[in-house]
Amino acid sequence: MSIKSIVKLGNKELSTPALPVTEFGTDFLKNLIQNMHDTMIERNGVGIAAPQIGVNLQVTIFGFEKNERYPNQSSVPFTIFINPKIEILSDEQIEMYEGCLSIPGLRAVVPRYKKIKYTAFDLNGQPISGIAEDFHARIIQHECDHLHGVLYPERIKNIRTLGFEDELKNR
Ligand code: NI
Repeated sequence: MSIKSIVKLGNKELSTPALPVTEFGTDFLKNLIQNMHDTMIERNGVGIAAPQIGVNLQVTIFGFEKNERYPNQSSVPFTIFINPKIEILSDEQIEMYEGCLSIPGLRAVVPRYKKIKYTAFDLNGQPISGIAEDFHARIIQHECDHLHGVLYPERIKNIRTLGFEDELKNR
């Protein structure tokens, strides 16, 4: 078990597009995913991308059974995504408060597409694909943004929704 420190907003690594993985099933990749998993669990995250622990590769993991940062959301299956691509299936967007482990304490309303199709590879390089909706789709869009060097503040439509979690809770 290895918990890594999380790179925070402002660090150049987070705004640099990640490189595709070319070798699958390696000890390096297994170790990376284990470290991402341990770090995500320790921080109560619902997802994490490799650049957030300082590794510039297109690797993200996400999923939870119950999560105290998003207590009203139903579970999302634990998933490893390598070199993911998403396709938007409907123009419909949902606005919801969203946070990021690289922007601790803050949240803002971020619009995300309601329904997407994803394709990616698993740890061993096997292709995976499917359709995701609602919060599941939101997490995938958030994590794929990380791999393109984009953080949620770039997606905020109304900057006045940005605030600290503990203050927003009291509204
Ligand atoms: Ni994030």
